[in-house]
Amino acid sequence: MLVLAIETSCDDTSAAVVNNGVEVLSSVIASQTEFHKKYGGIVPEIASRRHIEVINPVIKEALERADKDFGDLDAVAVTCGPGLVGSLLVGVCAAKAVSYSLDIPLIGVNHLEGHMYANFINSHSLSKRGGNPNEEREGVSFPFICLIVSGGHTMIVEAKGYGKYRTLGQTRDDAAGEAFDKVARFLKLGFPGGPVIDRLAKEGDPKAIDFKRPMLEEEYGYDFSFSGIKTAVVNYVMRNAQRGMRTQDIVASFQRAVVDVLVEKTVKAAVENGIGNICLAGGVSANSLLRSELMLRGAEAGLRVTIPPFEYTTDNAAMIACAGFHRLKADGPSQLSIKPVAGLKL
Ligand code: KG4
Ligand code: ZN
Repeated sequence: MLVLAIETSCDDTSAAVVNNGVEVLSSVIASQTEFHKKYGGIVPEIASRRHIEVINPVIKEALERADKDFGDLDAVAVTCGPGLVGSLLVGVCAAKAVSYSLDIPLIGVNHLEGHMYANFINSHSLSKRGGNPNEEREGVSFPFICLIVSGGHTMIVEAKGYGKYRTLGQTRDDAAGEAFDKVARFLKLGFPGGPVIDRLAKEGDPKAIDFKRPMLEEEYGYDFSFSGIKTAVVNYVMRNAQRGMRTQDIVASFQRAVVDVLVEKTVKAAVENGIGNICLAGGVSANSLLRSELMLRGAEAGLRVTIPPFEYTTDNAAMIACAGFHRLKADGPSQLSIKPVAGLKL
C-alpha cells in the first residue's frame, strides 16, 4: 500500500512516499532554518507563509523521486498535531485536497506517534541522493519503551501495540531539545542549538564541569527536568567569565549530563516494566552521544535497542506515512472535516 504523507507541524515542509509503512521510496524536506535564524527561533507567521509557498513543489518532488504518480497512491497521511496551528493547517488542507480529488483515504496522524514510527522504517532508498540504494535494517517490534525527545517534548512511553500507549514519565519544565537550543542561544552558537552543540562537544571534555544530573532520585520516577541544568550552565559561565573557559568543555559537560539522565531513565523503565525492546524518537535522537550511549547501556542491560535512521530523526513526512499506514489498518480513515490541534496529546 502506497501512502503519501505530509508533515508541516513546525518549520520544515516535508512530503514522502512510503510502501506498507516500512519502505521509504522518497522523503523530501524543505528546511526553513535560513528564514528563522536571524530571529534566534521559529517565527510562526513566517513558518506558515513559507509552507504555503513550497508545499505543492515538495509534494511533486516526493512523487517524482519515488517514480510514482498521484494515481498510484492508496492513501494520504498528514500531521494534525501537536505543533504550530498555522503550520499544521497548511499540511492538513493540502492532504484534504489530495484525498478529496483522488477519492483516497485521509489519515490524520499525531506528530509524536509519527516520531515513534520512524523506528519501524526498515528499508529506504537513498539512491537519488547519492547514498546506498535500498539500505536495509531491522525495525522495532512491540512491546517497546520509547524515549521521545524533541524541541517540544520529552517523555518515556510504553507501547504495547498500535495505539496502545502509556506515558510513564515526562518533563516537568523544558524539553531536552529546548535546553539544547537555550544553552546554544546563551552561548551565541546559533539556531537550532542541538546540532551545533553535538558537533562542538566532540572537541570538549565531558568531565570538565560536573553539572548535576537532575531528578535521578527515586521519588521522581520517570519524570525529567531540564530547566535547572540550563540555569546551571548560565551560572557557571557568569561565575567564570573572568577566567579562560573552553566553550567545547562547557557544551560537552552539559550534553553528557542531559544524555546520562535520558539514558538512565529509559533503560530503567524497560527493566522495571519487564520490556525487552527500547527505541528512540524525536529531533534530539539525532544526537550522536545519545545514540551511542543508549545502544551501549541498553545492550549492557540485555535490551534490544533500535534507533531511527539518522535522516528520520528530525521532522520528516516518512515517519508520518509509517504511523498513518498502521492507523488506517487499525482505525480506518479520518473524516475530511479533521482540524489541526496545536496541543494534541499522544
Ligand atoms: O523533532 P524535531 O525536529 O522538532 C520538534 O518536533 O520539536 O526536534 C527539534 C529539536 C531541536 O530542539 C533541536 O535542537 C534538536 O531537536 N536536535 C538535536 C540534534 N539535532 C536536532 N539535539 C541534540 N543533538 C542533535 N544532534
Ligand atoms: Zn518533531
